[in-house]
Amino acid sequence: MGAAVVLGIESSCDETGAGLVREGRLLGHALASSMDEHARFGGVVPEIAARAHLHSFTPVVRQALDRAGLRMSDIGAVAVTTGPGLSGALQVGLAGAKTLAYSLGVPLYGVHHLAGHVAADTLEHGPLPDPCVVLIVSGGHTSLLLVRDLARDPIVHLGDTLDDAAGECFDKVARVFGLPYPGGPAVDRAARDGDPRAVRFPQALTGPGDDPYAFSFSGVKTAAARWAEGYRLRGEEVPVADGAASLQEAVADVLTRKAVAACREFGVGTLVVVGGVAANSRVRSLAERRCAAAGITLRVPPRGLCTDNGAMIAAVGDLLLRAGAEPAPLEVSIDPSAPL
Ligand code: KG4
Ligand code: ZN
Repeated sequence: MGAAVVLGIESSCDETGAGLVREGRLLGHALASSMDEHARFGGVVPEIAARAHLHSFTPVVRQALDRAGLRMSDIGAVAVTTGPGLSGALQVGLAGAKTLAYSLGVPLYGVHHLAGHVAADTLEHGPLPDPCVVLIVSGGHTSLLLVRDLARDPIVHLGDTLDDAAGECFDKVARVFGLPYPGGPAVDRAARDGDPRAVRFPQALTGPGDDPYAFSFSGVKTAAARWAEGYRLRGEEVPVADGAASLQEAVADVLTRKAVAACREFGVGTLVVVGGVAANSRVRSLAERRCAAAGITLRVPPRGLCTDNGAMIAAVGDLLLRAGAEPAPLEVSIDPSAPL
């Protein structure tokens, strides 16, 4: 099929995103977040997120169209996240996407949220080389993937987290450190004034007998919480900057070490780092250093495309459309706990 404009809708968590992509090119996107409404609860409240999507859906689509200089009638296909994610939140996005696709008489594509994160990078750096290793690090996922053709081949999981996701670890420790929600960016900011060698937090699954590409962050999370608690029990102020820098160092070290090792083992020349935690400055700088040393090309999408957005879902829809993939039936349902 030819050069149609694909509208992508993302609503799996607390961001309502709409993006417009044609032939691999981002034409415009818009985002609304309910993050502030969840802040006082210390995490995303599913009911609040779903209501916020309902509130933001139409304005966000309208804004994306305006930014792209397009009209509703220019949309040639609709792509929408069907999972994984919060079920109420996904349902709002899917209902909106179905309505648009049906009323415009255009195909609808269901998109896996993680495939969206992978495809985000294509909007900045062009088509992904086949194969490439992708490290997805977000609040819900930490996975190392071997990706071939996103539109045709299944994504191979080399390893996943056995417990907490890296972003979740940042979010939870930040709370114990008294930093604001969401914790990842707050840890990143606090770490600027800290010493990454101040505390040696444990790193799990790095021994010779361990699953080489699995991750575990519950140990470092507990250790960081205990470390902060120790100061409180002694009535001392927690040296948050040092704790944040040391935590960030421990997490970034294991993520980048395993990602580069996977590239080496599978003879892959490109590493793509995506997901919210790819915005972390230490993850970025360590990945840059280690990839350069190993002769691996590193691709990281710009910060705005690293976190949840509609453009990345449109990017997958565009790949599916151009590959001639079968559209989803209008009865398609959400798959909140979708495996990749
Ligand atoms: O991809 P994303 O927006 O949503 C999903 O989880 O799918 O990722 C959000 C996660 C949160 O845990 C947030 O704390 C983390 O990404 N994050 C960061 C940074 N920016 C966002 N973690 C560390 N450093 C950052 N600069
Ligand atoms: Zn995400």
